[in-house]
Amino acid sequence: MTKLSPSVLTADFLTLEKDLKILESAGVSMLHLDVMDGIFVPNISFGVPLIQSIRQHTKMELDVHLMIDRPHRYIEDFAKVSDWLGFHYEAGSDCGQLLQKIRSLGCKSCITIKPATNPEAIFDLIPYCDMVLVMSVEPGFGGQKFMPSALDKLRKLRAYCQENGYSCELEVDGGINAQTAPLAVEAGATVLVAGSYVFSADDPVSVAKSLMSLSV
Ligand code: DX5
Ligand code: ZN
Repeated sequence: MTKLSPSVLTADFLTLEKDLKILESAGVSMLHLDVMDGIFVPNISFGVPLIQSIRQHTKMELDVHLMIDRPHRYIEDFAKVSDWLGFHYEAGSDCGQLLQKIRSLGCKSCITIKPATNPEAIFDLIPYCDMVLVMSVEPGFGGQKFMPSALDKLRKLRAYCQENGYSCELEVDGGINAQTAPLAVEAGATVLVAGSYVFSADDPVSVAKSLMSLSV
C-alpha cells in the first residue's frame, strides 16, 4: 500500500470541506498543502490562516510543503498547524538545524529537493528527516508534466536508506497520474502527492483508491 497526499493547490476552496470528506471516506489520511511566497517560486498561494481553517475541518494529517525563501523565519508559525513540515534544501537555511527544530516542535520533518538537485546533496541530512520529498516538476504550479529524472533520484534515496538503516518516507510531487504513479512507486516512492489528477477527477474516490493500492 502507498500513501496518498492530495494537494489542494488547484482545488476549489469553496467546496473544499465537502471534497475533503469524500477523500476521507476513501481512506486518504494525508493532505498536501503548498505554501508559496512569490520569491522562492514564481507563484503565491496561501499561508497559516487557511491551513488553520482546513485543520479544523479534517482528521487528515497535514503535510505542509514550504516553497518559501529562508524558511527558518516561519518554521514556528507553520509547526503549529502542521503534522508533517518540509522546506526546500535550496532555500538557504541551515538545513540540519532546521530539521531538528521541526522535530522539537512536535512535527515530522521533511527536506525537499528541486529537479536540479542531486539526492547525494542531502544524504547527510537523512538522519534528521522523517520524509524526503523529490520534486518531479519545477515547484510553483500544478498541472505540469512529470519529469522522469525523479525516478533515478528515488532509487538512489531508497538504496541509501536501505543500506544505512533509515526508514524515512520517500514522497514524490508533481505530474502524478495513472501512468506515472506506478513508475514512482516502483522506484521507491512511499507517498504520492497528486493535485490536479485527484481534484479534477470525476470520481476522486476511485482515483484515490487506485493510487493507494499501488505497491512494489
Ligand atoms: C507544485 C506543488 C505540487 C502541485 C502538484 O509546486 O508542489 O504539490 O500541487 O500538482 P499536480 O499533481 O497537478 O502536478
Ligand atoms: Zn507540493
